[in-house]
Amino acid sequence: MMKLRIIAAALLTVALPLAWAATDEPIQPIPAAKVANPALVELGKKLFFDPRLSKSGFISCNSCHNLSMGGTDNLKTSIGHNWNEGPINAPTVLNSSMNLAQFWDGRAKDLQAQAGGPIANPGEMASNHALAVEVLQSIPGYVAQFKKAFGSDKVTIEEVTKAIAAFEETLVTPNSRFDKYLKGDKKALSANELGGYKLFKDSGCVACHNGPAVGGNSFQKMGVVEPYKASSPAEGRVAVTGKDADRFNFKVPTLRNVEMTYPYFHDGAAKTLTDAVDTMGRLQLGKKFSDEENAKIVAFLKTLTGDQPDFKLPILPPSNDKTPRPEPFAKK
Ligand code: HEC
Ligand code: HEC
Repeated sequence: MMKLRIIAAALLTVALPLAWAATDEPIQPIPAAKVANPALVELGKKLFFDPRLSKSGFISCNSCHNLSMGGTDNLKTSIGHNWNEGPINAPTVLNSSMNLAQFWDGRAKDLQAQAGGPIANPGEMASNHALAVEVLQSIPGYVAQFKKAFGSDKVTIEEVTKAIAAFEETLVTPNSRFDKYLKGDKKALSANELGGYKLFKDSGCVACHNGPAVGGNSFQKMGVVEPYKASSPAEGRVAVTGKDADRFNFKVPTLRNVEMTYPYFHDGAAKTLTDAVDTMGRLQLGKKFSDEENAKIVAFLKTLTGDQPDFKLPILPPSNDKTPRPEPFAKK
């Protein structure tokens, strides 16, 4: 996987040929998901939708990563337990298996490492791993499915996160109009959209947004040419590495399905794609797009919407008499 570190916009012209070495296009089509273990994916799907993994019994992964809305909550920052106002925008879970690491600052190395976090985060699902496991272990329908997937009657948090990660790996979005174009259907895009793609390449957006996910494969400075005034206290990658050079470096977000994943940026401050493209042009490239150029790029970005996850809504096995009960409200 290619990792580009762009220190200054001036370097972009040097970096571009590297980015394009593998193919003559900087973006590649998304391959369809291969399901190795259907029982594991089915279990992970149920867990993803199950609010009983939260203390309130009300918040599931799908509450903030709504698969009917591009895998996001479409909120500036998320709402967690007790209506807690989250510090940062929820990225999409769609195509997240392609990320070089998870979270805006990359603090989780992969999907399995990530999945345990929200369950125990007091501002998100506010449960803890022991309680989540106790809940699942008490539900006979789950015990049978864990047995089918892992061959044991004993539920563990490692199995929970492994199953959720296996489900998330299936949440890829192939067959976008842009992918059809890349695969040779030259009529898949209008002249206007193609013009947007050309601007996206020629202006240097592809130095950071490239590969199958059109992002997700490097950490980059937010505010290369001009500083970004964020409405969130998050400082990005420095929180993980402790290196000053990583201050305000964030994982470059995927632009797949970006039409659906508003609002934008780690602080959710850009309400529209038009805003986000304008800010990127000025702050990352020192370029002010005309309204017409901006609209072309936005038209191109909308061709990156692929097939959304398509499955039957999972029906969750009912709680048992011994299942610990939810605590939806703070004790008065
Ligand atoms: C209360 C809202 C909320 C809930 C519930 C929640 N998440 Fe998230 N999720 C977020 C936010 C906000 C972030 C970004 C946090 C950060 O980067 O610091 C995130 C990040 C992620 C990421 C990283 C994506 C990326 O591109 O970096 C994945 C994957 C993910 N969540 C999966 C899950 C799973 C699986 C669950 C259930 C076990 C879950 N989330 C529950 C809000 C939520
Ligand atoms: C130097 C690397 C770099 C360049 C060049 C760059 N971007 Fe970005 N892009 C980023 C980073 C990093 C973020 C996340 C910033 C944040 O959230 O604070 C981002 C975020 C975005 C987002 C918001 C996505 C989301 O889900 O929040 C859009 C849209 C976007 N870029 C489009 C563009 C376009 C269009 C161009 C060219 C005009 C461009 N970018 C150039 C690094 C770059």
